[in-house]
Amino acid sequence: MPKARLCRTAEILKLTRRCDILCQHALRRPCVVVDLCPCVAHLPPPLRRNQACLRIGIPQRTNSRTNLRTNDIMAESPPTTLNDLAAKITELTETLSRFLTDNSIPEPSFAADSPTSYTGLTAESFMVRQALFDALMDMIYLTQGPSESIFNFVHTCMPDAASLNVLNYFDFWAAVPLDGSASYDDIAKHTDLPREVVRRVIEHATTLRLFAPTEPGKAETRIRHTSRSAALSKNAGLRALVSTLLDDAGPPMTVLPEALRQYTTGKPELTTDMNETSFALFHRHGVFGEYATPWDLLENDGSGEKKGWRQRNFVEFMRYLKDIFQLEKVMLECYDWKAAGKATVVDVGGSAGHDSVVLAQNFPDLSITVQDLGQVKPAYEANVPQELKARVRFMEHSFFDPQPVRADVYLLKLILHDWPDAESIQILRGLVPAMKAGSRVIFIDYVGKHGDSEGAPLPRSIQAMGTATDMRMMALFNAKERPVEEWKGIFQAADSRFEIVRTKADPLTFMVVIEAVLRE
Ligand SMILES: C[S@@+](CC[C@H](N)C(=O)[O-])C[C@H]1O[C@@H](n2cnc3c(N)ncnc32)[C@H](O)[C@@H]1O
Repeated sequence: MPKARLCRTAEILKLTRRCDILCQHALRRPCVVVDLCPCVAHLPPPLRRNQACLRIGIPQRTNSRTNLRTNDIMAESPPTTLNDLAAKITELTETLSRFLTDNSIPEPSFAADSPTSYTGLTAESFMVRQALFDALMDMIYLTQGPSESIFNFVHTCMPDAASLNVLNYFDFWAAVPLDGSASYDDIAKHTDLPREVVRRVIEHATTLRLFAPTEPGKAETRIRHTSRSAALSKNAGLRALVSTLLDDAGPPMTVLPEALRQYTTGKPELTTDMNETSFALFHRHGVFGEYATPWDLLENDGSGEKKGWRQRNFVEFMRYLKDIFQLEKVMLECYDWKAAGKATVVDVGGSAGHDSVVLAQNFPDLSITVQDLGQVKPAYEANVPQELKARVRFMEHSFFDPQPVRADVYLLKLILHDWPDAESIQILRGLVPAMKAGSRVIFIDYVGKHGDSEGAPLPRSIQAMGTATDMRMMALFNAKERPVEEWKGIFQAADSRFEIVRTKADPLTFMVVIEAVLRE
């Protein structure tokens, strides 16, 4: 039996009121300190301690007024009444806004000049916000009741998505000045759409606080920005995200049931044939043309100067993802680049080189080849600073062909989760002939799913980030989000000489880093 002494969590869990409750409890009744179990050892310190505290059995204290328990931060705990939920929402809101005030983080509003996002959230405050989000969704479900909450969802989800997609596709954002207003005629002129279409799309959008009428209820009102439409006006990355997820990836998802019916029913597992995806079904003789995979669409949609516009947009989306998931830090820390010295690196499927530029700027000895599909090259030419082009070169190369460059490090970031097992294995195998003794693969990918874990589950809104991507992978590629162990299996299946020398998984950045060396 380990020696009983004061729980270390007492000093650590001070960031939310609930943690204070735990701390007080721990201080009054010392508990046994145990080593972190492996299932929480990979969590960032604040979460790890929170989990550890739950595991070592500090009883769940209940706030008598709100019935809010410690587990509410981390776990599903269905509230019973509207009043319970309201109290929980109030408490979580107070916790979040106290954190914002204490840290001088400005709160967004609906005004056009509002901050466009929260900056500087810590792991704890992020968890509080997501728990609040879950509670608010529960409130929405409960206030409507089971049947009407379904009715309202299905009634509005497609029109919601369609209006946002139309606004984005025709760049309504730029048609309305950020510090003024525009008439429906002004917007019609800018978008080249009939005035009536403009009015109807905007009328629905305003129900989502995307734009607002200057004179609510008047047919001839002018239109101004809200913070949500202004965020899209200000941020090309956000526009690219909407375009990629709604306009590129959205339509094929509508035929997922039919794809499953045609290709997967009666089988023990989802088909992994790339000709049998929802995407392939949708784009076979589709309205956009004939496309086999999303990359085929991105590369080839459009003609003349417009050709490849979706790929250029996707490049911007990937750059934006790097910002929102703070992947620059992951890139810089995924390997000891300094110790690597004058290393050669291949950034396989490296988009327009946004990661390679970060590496090259921070590590002047690195020499990097960015490989990607042809339509990415103009974005590389435009985005990579001239002075870095000697060290960050672009090579058009398909990763299904044997790797032509002998390098010290092959970087695979956010590549394999787009492919079923067979293709992922093929991509890794394609590297092997070029690999020399001591060269390695640095694999960085999205871990939407963490497999079995002993701790309390993450808030549903965090789980949904993984499950939504997983559904998208299913529809677009017959692929899936894999937990860390499955990624290791893909390496082993590609070549048993791959030795995993390091794994780092972080559920808050949603990223796993695997370093694999090819042994003799
Ligand atoms: C999800 S993005 C990841 C981009 C980049 N590694 C990053 O993390 O931002 C996948 C990339 O794979 C590229 N790609 C798709 N099929 C490819 C192929 N057959 N050969 C090379 N690159 C490909 C796409 O153009 C895209 O840039």
